[in-house]
Amino acid sequence: MSGKVKFIQEVEIKKKKTILDIAQKNKIKIKSPCDGKGKCGKCIVKVVDGKVSEPTKAEINTLGDKKIKKGYRLACEAILEGDGKIVID
Ligand code: FES
Repeated sequence: MSGKVKFIQEVEIKKKKTILDIAQKNKIKIKSPCDGKGKCGKCIVKVVDGKVSEPTKAEINTLGDKKIKKGYRLACEAILEGDGKIVID
């Protein structure tokens, strides 16, 4: 048998932070070759639920409007503003 499995991890946040900061603080790996400068586009995540900051210029330039409308964001730019569900590929 072969297949895929997804693990779901819940963490608590106390301040508004970027999704990348939250992940790194909780030892959740998100690729970030440009060290969170909004340039590489490798930290892409999907926000499936929750309120996040408005897309930044870096996100609009890297992801484009179509992906942003589908919930994709750059983890190093998007700030989580409360409870949320984030999917990392
Ligand atoms: S870490 Fe490179 S764009 Fe986010």
